[in-house]
This record gives sequence, C-alpha cells and structure tokens, in this order.
Amino acid sequence: MAAKSFFITTAIDYTNAAPHLGHAYEKVLADTLVRWRRLCGVPAYFLTGVDQHGQKVQMAAQREGIEPSTYAARETAKFLALWETLGLSNDGWAETTHPAHKRVVQGCLQKLYSQGELYKASYSGFYSVRQEQFLTDKDRLPDGTFGTEWGQVVELAEDNWYFPLTKHKDWLVRLLKSRQLVFPDFRQQELLNAAEKISCDLCISRPRERLSWGIPLPFDENYVTYVWFDALINYISFAGYRPMGETGAEFDGLPTFNSLWPADFHLIGKDILIPAHGIYWLIMLHALGFTDEQMPGFLVHGFWNMGGARMSKSTGNIADPATLATQYSPDALRYYLMRDIATGQDADFNAERLILRYNADLANDLGNLVNRTLSMANRYRAGILQPTSKNLPFTSELAKAIVALPERVATEMERHHVHAALEAINELVTRCNGFIEIAAPWKLAKDPSPEASSNLDATLGLLTDAIRILAILISPVLPRPAAEIISQLGLEPSKELVFQRAKLGLLPEGHRVGTPRPVFPRIESAESSK
Ligand code: MSP
Repeated sequence: MAAKSFFITTAIDYTNAAPHLGHAYEKVLADTLVRWRRLCGVPAYFLTGVDQHGQKVQMAAQREGIEPSTYAARETAKFLALWETLGLSNDGWAETTHPAHKRVVQGCLQKLYSQGELYKASYSGFYSVRQEQFLTDKDRLPDGTFGTEWGQVVELAEDNWYFPLTKHKDWLVRLLKSRQLVFPDFRQQELLNAAEKISCDLCISRPRERLSWGIPLPFDENYVTYVWFDALINYISFAGYRPMGETGAEFDGLPTFNSLWPADFHLIGKDILIPAHGIYWLIMLHALGFTDEQMPGFLVHGFWNMGGARMSKSTGNIADPATLATQYSPDALRYYLMRDIATGQDADFNAERLILRYNADLANDLGNLVNRTLSMANRYRAGILQPTSKNLPFTSELAKAIVALPERVATEMERHHVHAALEAINELVTRCNGFIEIAAPWKLAKDPSPEASSNLDATLGLLTDAIRILAILISPVLPRPAAEIISQLGLEPSKELVFQRAKLGLLPEGHRVGTPRPVFPRIESAESSK
C-alpha cells in the first residue's frame, strides 16, 4: 500500500460574495506549507474549494433575481481566477455542488440515520438568518436582545432533524484531554472548555419551503441538509471516502481515501474552530465510525483586520486581493501575506506596508543581491565560477551563516512560523549584501595579486551558492521568482528546487551563470511617485 501523503485542507469559502483578503491569506498559507513539504520530498496533497450551498448564497441570488446555482457558479469562477493568479498548487478542488460530494453527504446522512444517530423533533425559538442557526438564551446580550452579529433574528416553530452532540460529549472531552489535535495550543484548551459545556444537539436540516438551495436529506424529502453538515464533509468526500460503498463515474479521478486520511491539518480561521470544526466535525467523524487515531489535526490562523477593526463588506472596510495582485503583483501579495503576520495571531492590513516590505526585502535586498552577484560574475569572470569548497578565511564567517540557514528555516517551517523563516532568509540576504561591501569585489578585480584573485573567486562562488540556497528556501512562498532566480544562475529549477540541495558546495566546477534580469521590479507607491 502506498505511504500516506501529508494532507492539508483549507476552509471552503462561501460563494455569496467575491474572495476577500482573509480567504487569500488562508489559501496562500496552505500553499506555502504544502510546497514546503514537497520541497522536503514528502508526498503531499492540498485540497481547497468553495462552499456553495446554504441560505447566504440563496439570499444573495434572490437579491439579484437569479438562480442560486447561477450565482454560486459565477462567484466560484472569481475564486478560481484568483487562485490561478496567486499560483496555488492545490491537487484537489472541492465544490459542494459536485455530484460525488452530494452522494457522499447523503451516504453519511443515511449511515447515521440507519445507525439511529439522527432524530426528528420540533423546536420553536429564535433563528438567526445570517448565521443559519437557532439561538438560545445563552446568545442573548445582558439586556435580553440578540447582538448585531446575528443579523436578522426571526421567531420560528419547526420540525427538524437533529444530530445528538450531547450523546458524544464525554467522548470528545476525553479525546481532547488525551490528544493534541489543535495548534496553537491555547486553541485546544478553548475547544476543550467549549466541549465541556456542550448542552444541546445540532439541528442538521432546513425545511425545503424555507431553504431549497441544499442537498436533500436522503430519508426525508421535505428537508435539505444544514450547510455546515454538508460543507464539513468536503474534507472526506473529495479525499475519496465512500460511506456506503458508493460507485459511479462521478467518483472518477478522486484520490484513494487511505492514502490521505487523516488530514494532517485542516487549516482554518479562528472563527470556525468552535463549534463547527472542533465540535460538530469531530463528533460527526466519531459517529460515522472513525477511530480516535483517525481524527484530523487543526491549524488555526488569526485574522487580517483593517485599521484595527474586522474587515466587513457592510462597512466597506475590505481589501480586495484580486485588485492588490493586479496593482502590486501576485508575488508582492504572497510575500506580504506570509511575512507580516505571525501564524495564529491577528495582523492589520496596510497597503503601504505591503509596498515597504516588498521594496525593502525583495526589490532592494534579494533582487539586488542577485543582480549584483551575477553582474560581477559576468564582468570579472565571464560568468564562470570556481567551486566554493576551498573555504578560505576570507569568506568563512559568511559561509558559516549560510550553512546554518536551512536548518533554521526548517525549524520555523515545521512550527508553521513562515514569517520567522522569511525573517531568517532576509537576515542572510542582508548579510550577503553587507559582505559585498566589505569584500569589495571591484577592488579585488583590480588587484593583480594571486591572493586577491583567489578571494574574488571565493566571494563570487560563495555568493552564487548562497543565492541558490536562498532561492530554494524561499520557493514555498515565492515559487515563480525562485524558479526565475535558479534559471538566471544557469541551473534547472525542477532539479535544483529541492531542500536536500540547500547545501554549500553543490555548484559544479567551472559552472557558468546566466545574465541577470530584474526579478522583483520596484513598486512605486502613490506616495513616492507624487
Ligand atoms: N464556508 C465556511 C467554511 C466551511 S469549511 C468546511 C466559512 N466560509 S468563509 O468564507 O466565511 O470563511 C472562509 C475562511 O476564511 C475561514 O477559515 C475564515 O476564518 C477565513 N477568514 C474570513 N475572514 C478572515 C480574515 N479577515 N482574516 C483571515 N481569515 C479570515 O466560514
């Protein structure tokens, strides 16, 4: 049997509106983490997608007087276009209207129903249209009203189908006490606290007359499935799970479940760990018969805010990633999103900082290093380099710093601290640029002594090797520029962009580098061009 791949998924985004910066952040982070694994030679699978059903989409479509399916397809196209622009390397694409997904959702429901895990009950109470859920007294503010986060709240009396969370509460608490599933750690503690307070079951159906845009319950045609119960299942339906041994052409091309499950990480924002992923999803899997060892892990990221406040369409307080990518380039956006936030924490979006980061770290530092080194190699040595293994005292301090970098980056990446890995990379770039100033190859080139000549060879060889290693290490975040840099070094990106090759001295003797072309054109900001 094939070894299990590293399996990372993202949340699937609602298609009730175009993608926003938070969506782009999460997907680029997943892309970076999976590219890191591939760089290290680990077989990996990256699944992302869109959440197309539910009341939010139905209402948005109604407002425009079009069918929900037309609406969802139109918004889905915007997500796909953005992911293409940002260079996502996802292996799977989860659209919840996909026929295979629908059958797996129905299969899961049927299985739970047959096992006696679902029951019908009548409920009357307050219902949040925006959050698509019934509210309880716990959701009231001290003055007795429901907060604005719930949007429109209406009174409803309905028969519905329920999934018994309470029955599995003790199991979940035990699981969370015995296994670390959630990163960062404090989120696991928050989840455990919430699990200990589970006091009601989950309503998993919506009457068709009120919500038609969903997957019909297989055992009661008057209802469609609650959108979360449908959406969460994407993680297994698109990974090849067949609850009732389903077959058919719609399953063609899906992966083999055993080669992926359990997911190493569901990468999600902090707003959807509790209750959706940490409570509903884990209990759903348990009720479906998954063992404790088959429970997935969760990597929970923070939020991008604007001016300290949550981004929100209604206040117009929003950054549009498609516009940012066009205005500043996809590379600038990817770099900023990975460099200016610590995984797990929040950050404030600021376009001026995006420009600053890109111009300082990439255009000035890395771009300049590549440009100067290749120009000097061409000018002083006709592009031909001597091996760096000579290890002269002249270059030994810098060589030590280069040797230490891959391990440092690996440690940070394994902890998902992409920002810290980039910081370490940038530190070495700065150091290499500083070394050029001290070594002054333009002076060495004029000095006829054999020592100067040998120092010039060592300098150019070491800097070129450093650039090669830097390109390898930065490639999960900036795959396109990394490949471009490797090509300019006269090397083959597909062979060179491998973590194993992030070692000094792997340039062949007498290697000839190419000519430099700008990899990171400077961004002229509105301010600086005034
Ligand atoms: N459709 C559900 C997820 C179902 S997963 C089975 C949903 N969609 S969403 O479009 O509202 O959010 C998608 C992801 O984007 C979530 O992980 C959410 O936390 C993340 N973000 C939404 N706004 C964000 C920011 N401002 N910043 C960072 N991430 C944010 O929830």
